[in-house]
Amino acid sequence: MTGDTDPEYTAAVVGGTGFTGGELLRLLYQHPDFDVVQATSRSKERKTVGHVHPNLREMDLRFTSPEDLESVDVLFAATPHGVSMEHVEEFQDAADTVVDLSADFRLDTEAQYDEWYDGHVCPEYLEKAEYALPEINRENLAGASLIASGGCNATATILGLKPLFDADVLSGDEQVVVDVKVGSSEGGAGGGDASSHPERSGIVRPYAPIGHRHEAEIEQFLGISVSFTVHAVDMVRGASATCHVFPESAVSKSDLWKAYRGTYADEPFVRTVAGGGGVYRYPEPKAVAGTNMAEVGFELDPSNRRVVVFSAIDNMMKGSAGQAVHAANVALGLEETAGLEFTGLHPVGAP
Ligand SMILES: NC(=O)c1ccc[n+]([C@@H]2O[C@H](COP(=O)([O-])OP(=O)(O)OC[C@H]3O[C@@H](n4cnc5c(N)ncnc54)[C@H](OP(=O)(O)O)[C@@H]3O)[C@@H](O)[C@H]2O)c1
Repeated sequence: MTGDTDPEYTAAVVGGTGFTGGELLRLLYQHPDFDVVQATSRSKERKTVGHVHPNLREMDLRFTSPEDLESVDVLFAATPHGVSMEHVEEFQDAADTVVDLSADFRLDTEAQYDEWYDGHVCPEYLEKAEYALPEINRENLAGASLIASGGCNATATILGLKPLFDADVLSGDEQVVVDVKVGSSEGGAGGGDASSHPERSGIVRPYAPIGHRHEAEIEQFLGISVSFTVHAVDMVRGASATCHVFPESAVSKSDLWKAYRGTYADEPFVRTVAGGGGVYRYPEPKAVAGTNMAEVGFELDPSNRRVVVFSAIDNMMKGSAGQAVHAANVALGLEETAGLEFTGLHPVGAP
């Protein structure tokens, strides 16, 4: 923590060398209510945080082994799928509140993990976990001891479509086609060949044409099944969802504005961008890079009663680390926006 007030809560980041771990460290370092006392790594033990994350060179902290967890108020786990479910008991012994960024506790049932993942080793924890997206689960996050931060593509899709369900523009019986474009950081620091700079440059590659695991989260929280395709594109940060929906009854633009304002008028981290002037008339990942803001918007095609919904987030912020800190703020009863006020940059550099 940089400031001159005394932070109230201690925090640890397990998986501190990764992309989302780095973002957590950046956010928590500047957060008025948190003091980061531990960041773990198996491969970079004893190296400074700045050694891996050059934007955090001023941070006076070295990576330690995840086997030597310190006792803290909040433990953030930014580890690959499967690690948290193996270690959740240790995590809960070390901290009153555990916020997991992986998919390990997002779904409700063991059967879903059998269907979408490779099963689950501690299904008894699924009932205890609260899904982090505060915009859909704020009331249950207060006081939660195990929080499952949402998937980035699911977050973008759920935030985009939710107003249409809230306002009964959609009932759940309609076909919903979702196309998501994502940046390379979604694959993590160890993203492999598909994320290497020369391979990634210039691509629009359908990497999950069908069967993406985030479909399970969307189904669980919106109550619909979606036709879902994900493309890997040539950007580093960002997830941009385009959803095509066909309401059964005619809908006007003012109905749509009403729906989006109704759902998000009081949300600090969602803004509606739908038409208007200038170059950026619809949600744009570049406009939210580095921030915890989601942009949502729509366009109406009256010729075939199609509503095109757009949403854009930074996958490492609103899609993971920012969402996780937002959820921790809610869980602890802190100011919801604490540590998350950064408004972004324009212009930003090439991907
Ligand atoms: N990247 C995104 O946009 C995004 C968005 C939403 C959710 N998520 C989820 O967030 C989690 C982290 O993603 P990421 O992109 O930050 O991954 P990452 O860059 O690959 O980082 C993974 C981190 O976990 C550590 N780690 C790996 N295996 C471990 C183990 N067995 N025990 C303890 N630490 C271990 C790694 O460091 P050491 O190997 O040095 O220990 C590293 O610090 C994943 O579950 C991912 O699905 C990511």
